[in-house]
Formats: sequence, structure tokens, C-alpha cells
Amino acid sequence: MQVFVVYCHPSKKSFTHDMKQEFLKGLNEANHKFIVSDLYDMDFNEEMSEDEYEREAYYSTETPVAEDVMEEQRKIQQSDAIVFIYPVFWTEAPAKLVGWFDRVWTSGFAYNPNPKMKILKKALFMVSAGKTLESLEETGESNAMRIVMLGDRIRNRALEKEMIIFDGTTHWDEAQRKQRIAEHLLNAYKAGLNF
Ligand SMILES: Cc1cc2nc3c(=O)[nH]c(=O)nc-3n(C[C@H](O)[C@H](O)[C@H](O)COP(=O)(O)O)c2cc1C
Repeated sequence: MQVFVVYCHPSKKSFTHDMKQEFLKGLNEANHKFIVSDLYDMDFNEEMSEDEYEREAYYSTETPVAEDVMEEQRKIQQSDAIVFIYPVFWTEAPAKLVGWFDRVWTSGFAYNPNPKMKILKKALFMVSAGKTLESLEETGESNAMRIVMLGDRIRNRALEKEMIIFDGTTHWDEAQRKQRIAEHLLNAYKAGLNF
């Protein structure tokens, strides 16, 4: 499969960075082809302009889609699957990735009128979280994240959709972090290998 990986983390020292590397290693070994948009490395502009807002809110349809946005849309059209890799920030994705959706999911591409975006075979979210899964489930936060990402942002834009939460990575509990990270890196590699 041709896989488009959208990666968003500000630091290369992070667990999320290593998790992305393991996933790509697995993809590579399974002979999948991939391209990566590393949003911080690319310095992707997550800020919607006034003109873009007015186009997206149907005040005016004249503003053309910006070249950096079209480039991301081309990567989607050339792929069979999309994978998002990022840390949870306040029960959401980092602002840069939220802004990527604001700008790349344009009307006429991802939604009405006549959306041209292809229906992907698969959309996978690989999300690192400081909290444990038990805690995220107890508060309903993991459910909220799934509703927003899988339910709203992907909706019917992919046939198969999944969110894997790599939990318990906070530095507040170093013993737990160390143990979880070892398991998570192996699972990220397997997610690539079995993609
Ligand atoms: C601004 C900010 C907000 C965060 N919000 C959450 C959160 O809502 N839920 C959660 O489980 N972890 C949260 N975290 C923890 C990150 O998800 C954590 O840094 C990440 O899982 C793993 O860290 P690493 O990849 O940087 O090593 C937050 C971290 C930061 C910096």
C-alpha cells in the first residue's frame, strides 16, 4: 500500500518520535511505500487566513486553495491509507495538526460541494498519551478523542478507521514510562509490519 504519514511532534527527543520511527521500520519491512509530512520540520502553517476562512464558511468562493494545502491534498490522492502520529495535548492533537485539518480539509475536497477527496482504504491514529488508558476511559477522554478524530474528521473518508493509544508515557512516573515505552515501541513496529 501507499501510506501517507502525517507526523506532528515538536521534539525529536520524544517517545512519539521513536514510536514513529518504529512504525516506519515495520512499514518498510512489509514493503509498503510511504511519504511523511513532518509538520514541525516542514514548518507547516496551521493558521487559517481571513480569506481562507471566508471561503470555508461560504462567504466567498473565489479564494484559491493555497499551494501548501494542495500539496498535502495531492499526497492524500496518491495514497491508499493515511496515518496520523502525534501526542495528546489537552485531549486533542497539537494545534499544528488541528490547523492542518482546518486548512487541508477544504470544501470541494473533504466536504461539500462535490468533495473530490478519495475514499481511503484505511485511516490509523497512533496517539501517545501521558495518562493511562484506564484513566482516559474513566473520564471519557479517550472516547471523546475517538469521536472527534474517527467520527468527525475521518467520518466516511476511509473504509477502515482505528485509533491506537500508546498510554502512560508521562515523566511523572519514570518506572511506568520505561516499561510502557518498551512495549509500545514493539507494538508500533508490529502496527507497521501488519499494516
Ligand atoms: C501541552 C500538553 C498537553 C498535554 N495534554 C495531555 C492530555 O490531555 N492527556 C494526556 O494523556 N497526556 C497529555 N499530555 C502528555 C503528552 O501526551 C505526552 O507528552 C506524550 O504522550 C508523550 O510524550 P513524548 O512523546 O513527548 O515523550 C500533554 C502534554 C503537553 C506538553
